[in-house]
Amino acid sequence: MATKLFDSNILAEGEAIGFTLPNSNTSVTRDITSAFAIKKDGEIYAYLNACPHIGVELNWQENQFLDSEGELIQCSTHGALFLIDSGECISGPCTGKCLQPIKLNIKPDGVYLSD
Ligand code: FES
Repeated sequence: MATKLFDSNILAEGEAIGFTLPNSNTSVTRDITSAFAIKKDGEIYAYLNACPHIGVELNWQENQFLDSEGELIQCSTHGALFLIDSGECISGPCTGKCLQPIKLNIKPDGVYLSD
């Protein structure tokens, strides 16, 4: 059975939400269950909550994953900046590395983990 991550209407345009992946998730290779999603230009993107620099969680406050302009994902530890649509780091100590994406299945009633 598909795993529902959160309700579709909980994530507003330009906002981010943190969530926890089930332990049995097989589409993720690392033993990380913290994740987040962002809605941008009508699309929802999700990544593991682990900075490719030293692996710490990106956010310093609940659901706060974006820079002050809301245009880039920002790591709160050393300030690395990532593109929302690809997860690529474009500034900071891990430039050129990428956040690990999570495949989603968007349904009318919610956002699900893709099988
Ligand atoms: S841990 Fe994210 S930039 Fe250093």
